Amino acid sequence: MPRCSYEHMPSEVPMPERRPLVVANWKMYLTPAESRREAELIRKRAAVLARSVEAVVCPSFPLLPDLHAIFFKSPIVLGAQDAHMEEAGPYTGDVSVLHLQKLVRYVIVGHSERRRLHGETDEIVARKMRRVLNAGMHPIVCVGETAEERAAEATLEVVRRQVGAVMTELPVLELPRIVFAYEPVWAIGTGAGTPAPQPAPGEAAEIIGFIRKVASDAGGRRYAGKLRILYGGSVTAKTAAAFMEPGVDGALVGGASTKATDFITIAQEIADAAR
Ligand code: 13P
Repeated sequence: MPRCSYEHMPSEVPMPERRPLVVANWKMYLTPAESRREAELIRKRAAVLARSVEAVVCPSFPLLPDLHAIFFKSPIVLGAQDAHMEEAGPYTGDVSVLHLQKLVRYVIVGHSERRRLHGETDEIVARKMRRVLNAGMHPIVCVGETAEERAAEATLEVVRRQVGAVMTELPVLELPRIVFAYEPVWAIGTGAGTPAPQPAPGEAAEIIGFIRKVASDAGGRRYAGKLRILYGGSVTAKTAAAFMEPGVDGALVGGASTKATDFITIAQEIADAAR
């Protein structure tokens, strides 16, 4: 069975700068034809983004080879929406990091839709994070509280637990290679047209500062300053700039990212706000 050599991988993968990052999570919104069309449109506008922001598109798994070809030699980076915590085995319907390794640079793990609908625990998320890192890719680890947890004033406790589980699996040296995304579950769009509530100004940045502190307290003091932390939850072309408060390194965008023009505008807003 092919295995990745963890010993040599990390040094071969360049450490990302703390460059603004905008990630399109297309979830299961688009058909194959729509995915290819939007990807072509993004590629045509990619040059305007390249200098100031890293733009990542995460389509459904079967679209990865097509989008890999579309984005070839463009600055747009490909990502995956998930990966299994094991490299291989009897896991019907799952996708291994070995399937993704040659196609993508980033892999989203621990999205609230996976935690909620597929029973992924903090431990599973931490193991997935480790598996993605070991295979030489960058995990984007999603954390965030539900509406009920927020109402119970448990936000910090939940986020501390979720980040802490990841930190126990992470050699601190590797901290700059991962990305956290703070996605309050109550702020994520449902795709049903009813807008989700939004955090008050300063609220997301405060939790993002807290995540950096938890990472730092877990032993990563020297490296926590290099960690990129994104905000996600109903980010649109209109709201993206407002979320780019100090300490926020970019956005993880669902619904609004499925329209190429909106995604490009969001990426530009993020690049401008970070300047
Ligand atoms: P929306 O931008 O549709 O709220 O989705 C956010 C999200 O879950 C991204 O991962």
